[in-house]
Amino acid sequence: MIEFEPLAAPLGAFVRDFDPAATPSSEFVDLLAEGLQSHAVLVFRSHDAKTGVISPAQLVQLGRAFGELEILPEPDKRHPDHAEIFNLSNVRPDGNLVEVDEPQAVFLRGTQRWHTDSSFREIPALCTMLYAVEVPNQGGQTQFADMRRAFSLLPTEDRAEIDELRLVHSYEYSRGNNPGRMEPMSDEERAKYPPVEHRWVRRNGDGSKSLYMGGHASHIVDQDLANSRERFAQIEAQLSVHDVVYEHQWQVNDLVVWDNRTTLHRLLGYDIANERRVMRRITVAGSPADWNDD
Ligand code: OGA
Ligand code: MN
Repeated sequence: MIEFEPLAAPLGAFVRDFDPAATPSSEFVDLLAEGLQSHAVLVFRSHDAKTGVISPAQLVQLGRAFGELEILPEPDKRHPDHAEIFNLSNVRPDGNLVEVDEPQAVFLRGTQRWHTDSSFREIPALCTMLYAVEVPNQGGQTQFADMRRAFSLLPTEDRAEIDELRLVHSYEYSRGNNPGRMEPMSDEERAKYPPVEHRWVRRNGDGSKSLYMGGHASHIVDQDLANSRERFAQIEAQLSVHDVVYEHQWQVNDLVVWDNRTTLHRLLGYDIANERRVMRRITVAGSPADWNDD
C-alpha cells in the first residue's frame, strides 16, 4: 500500500509505492483522500521502484476512482482519446511552439496567477492531477500555497471580518483578465458559466478553515471592485513572504495531485516560445455534500 513522506516544505508529501497499473481499491482511495486532506499536495515521482510512466488511461482510471471528472470548457485542448484529459502545453497540434500572443499562450499565462481550479463553478473542483510529459530546462515550476496556514496567519481582526464574507467568482472575469487574443465568451458559454458566490473562508471537512480566492475571484459580494481587488492583491502578496509555499520543480513522469479546496497554485514563467512544456491534466469534480458553502 502507498505511504506518505512529507516534503521538506510547508505542505505536501511524496507518495511512495504507488503502482499505476493496479486497479485502485477503495482502501487505496480512502488513504489517498486522507493524504490529500492532510498534506494538500501529493507528489508521485517516477524513479520510485514501481512508478513508471503513467499512461493516459491509467491517469483517467486514477481520477475516476476519486469521483467524476470535469470536462473543461476548452474543447480544442482535449486529448484525442480521452475527453477528460486536458492537454496543457505550449506545443500546437502541428508540432510547432505557440506564439506569445495566440490564445493557447494567453491561456497559459492565465495559470501564472494564483488561482484554484474551477472556482467559477457552483461546485468547484476537488483536486487536480497534473502529469509531466515534457518539461522545460528552466522555469515552469508550479507553486502551491497552503491557504489554511495563510488564513491562520492573518491578523485576528481581518480573520474575524472576512470569515463571514463571500466572493463572486467568474470565468468571464478571469478570462477577460488574460491580456491578449483570447476569444470573448459566447452567449452560450456565458449562460453555462454564470458568476457564482463562495464563502471567502472555506469550512473544511476536518474542521479547519482556509482562504478560498484566486484568479477567478472577481470581488467581495456587495463591495467595490477596486477595493476588493486591492485586498486580494495584498493577501496574495503575503503568500510569498510567509512560509506557506511549496515550489514543485518538475521532472518528466512526475504526477502531482493537489487539493483545490485548501490551496492556491500558479505556474512560474518559462520561455514558451523556445522550450517545450507538455502536461496532461485531469480534474476531479467536487461533490455537493463535500462543498459546504452555506
Ligand atoms: C492548471 C494549472 C499549472 C501548471 O492546469 O490548472 O494551473 O503548472 N497548471 O501548469
Ligand atoms: Mn490551475
